[in-house]
Amino acid sequence: MNAEGQRLVVISNRVAVPKARGAAGAQGGLAGALNSALGERGGVWFGWSGEVDDDPADNVHLHRAEDVTTATIDLTTRELGEYYNGYANETLWPLFHYRIDLARFEQRTGEGYERVNERFATSVMPLIDADDLVWVHDYHLIPLGDRLRERGAKNRIGFFLHTPWPPTRLLTSLPYHERLVRTMLAYDLIGFQTREWLSSFVHYCETELGASVDKCTGTIRFEGREVIARAYPIGIDWDHFQAQGETGEARQAEQRLLASTRHRTGMIGVDRLDYSKGLPERIDGIGRFFDQHPDRTRDLVFIQIAPPSREDVKSYQQIRQVLEQKTGQINGARSEVDIVPIRYVNRGYSHAELYGFFRAAKIGLVTPLRDGMNLVAKEYVAAQDPENPGVLILSEFAGSALQLGCEDDDGTARGAVLVNPHSPDAVASAIARALDMPLEERKSRYEAMIGTVRDDNVQAWTARFCDDLAAD
Ligand code: G6P
Repeated sequence: MNAEGQRLVVISNRVAVPKARGAAGAQGGLAGALNSALGERGGVWFGWSGEVDDDPADNVHLHRAEDVTTATIDLTTRELGEYYNGYANETLWPLFHYRIDLARFEQRTGEGYERVNERFATSVMPLIDADDLVWVHDYHLIPLGDRLRERGAKNRIGFFLHTPWPPTRLLTSLPYHERLVRTMLAYDLIGFQTREWLSSFVHYCETELGASVDKCTGTIRFEGREVIARAYPIGIDWDHFQAQGETGEARQAEQRLLASTRHRTGMIGVDRLDYSKGLPERIDGIGRFFDQHPDRTRDLVFIQIAPPSREDVKSYQQIRQVLEQKTGQINGARSEVDIVPIRYVNRGYSHAELYGFFRAAKIGLVTPLRDGMNLVAKEYVAAQDPENPGVLILSEFAGSALQLGCEDDDGTARGAVLVNPHSPDAVASAIARALDMPLEERKSRYEAMIGTVRDDNVQAWTARFCDDLAAD
């Protein structure tokens, strides 16, 4: 069955309600993608308002726009602490990004997480009609499908994880991991960004739960239930982004960056200030480049746009300090009265401005230590001038590397220059390579990437997931 015509109810922690809609870089890939997905189909988008209210009244704030109704609830201070800052972002986020050293395992926050999932289920249930497709997003809401089933929802309910899924041996360090994964099997369809995360999930289901799995169809059979698990790599909103690139705002941003970098090559990074993005490691790689090529301080300027994120969580406060210190050290050692090698900016920018910055910067540096997908890499490619494209340096541990780092039949690397982000030497030599790359190679690498960036876009992602969800 095709999902066209069926209303979509999207549920995610973060909702891009007009009031809370931040600058593009600050909101992360999820809110932008869902905004596009829903804008196209219409429906209901339910989630947290971004506000804190300690008044226990369980009000749902409804905001009806043309095709999309947003419905949000506020969280109490305690819920915010236990569910969002606590279990979601101090336990699941680090664990899912392979950072068990940063993960905290507290029963109290785990219970708060369960309670908020119950509250989401109770609040959204009256908004769901019998024929709706229900699509739940991300690690904040893993048990939600099960809680909706407990309240009688018979709809087709899907779940998409925007982050990586960790290897089984890492996941088993989570107390009650089995309970969490069992609740996922209440969904009809589970989507992951890449085959790598999908196969880790399937491995867990087979080895820890004893489920039987048909790897051709992705069918998981467990205790009388059948669930499909597949990979659905998310894409950008190509048309919207290109339209942004046509605006005066984008052109001004491009000119502004070009004018300020003059004869130097601009290299850009745009990331939420998050330890998974590998920002200190990136700065170490840039430092290594300048150490190895002291004569090139005047050739390169690095612009890091890093809007702060999850500022109440300690590991985020720490990463910010480390980054400021490292940036300061390199700038102190390498600046001249007229040049500063690293520009470090703690704010977000609009999509149009980012388009302009990406186009002006001849190197895009995207080096997360672990990332579900990373849409910045795709946006960087989308903004390039086909006649004079820049070079994308991309971490081999980003989900997008599977689509953007490709090889020809003869083994020649095409697409992005892939790097191990943990190695400052690898980052430094990728920068040197990108700086000196001839136009012909830049063009052929760009051409190897642009098709998938354009065609495997957010609309295609939504259609694939919703069609599979609608199919019985
Ligand atoms: C990642 C997560 C999203 C989240 C976004 C921004 O992309 O997968 O679920 O919305 O980061 O983080 P925040 O905590 O501000 O929502």
